[in-house]
Amino acid sequence: MLNPEEREALIDQALQARQWAYAPYSKYAVGAALLAESGIIYSGANIENAAYPVSICAERVAAFTAIHQGERRFKAIAVATENGGAPCGSCRQVLAEFGLETLVLIVDQEGNVDKEMRLADLLPDAFTPSDLGYSV
Ligand code: THU
Repeated sequence: MLNPEEREALIDQALQARQWAYAPYSKYAVGAALLAESGIIYSGANIENAAYPVSICAERVAAFTAIHQGERRFKAIAVATENGGAPCGSCRQVLAEFGLETLVLIVDQEGNVDKEMRLADLLPDAFTPSDLGYSV
């Protein structure tokens, strides 16, 4: 469970991170803040590219930053967009690698939580490391 301070910090950092989106093509800025079990929050924003397919979502910037710092379990992620957009399928799959219990807060540009659910609800019947006999 998230305590009120963690919740506030996550929402705040997702909104802050959104400012650093590089999204000149879609003009759809996304900020993400990911709370690891360590208590550290890792943030990210979407980074687009003139070669569109090599762009990356905010959630994956946050997740990959955390993972390369040694984090493997995540309590929650807040994702901020102008209209409360939900994480894409690729980001759901990346997060699912590290547990389906992660709480997902979908936040609008004012910081209102539009929706809140576990990753398991966003990605039912997920293909996970256990399908390959591995446990993270
Ligand atoms: N985007 C994210 O950053 N996260 C998502 O989960 C959905 C989409 C970005 C990718 C692209 O830069 C822009 O939003 C429009 O698709």
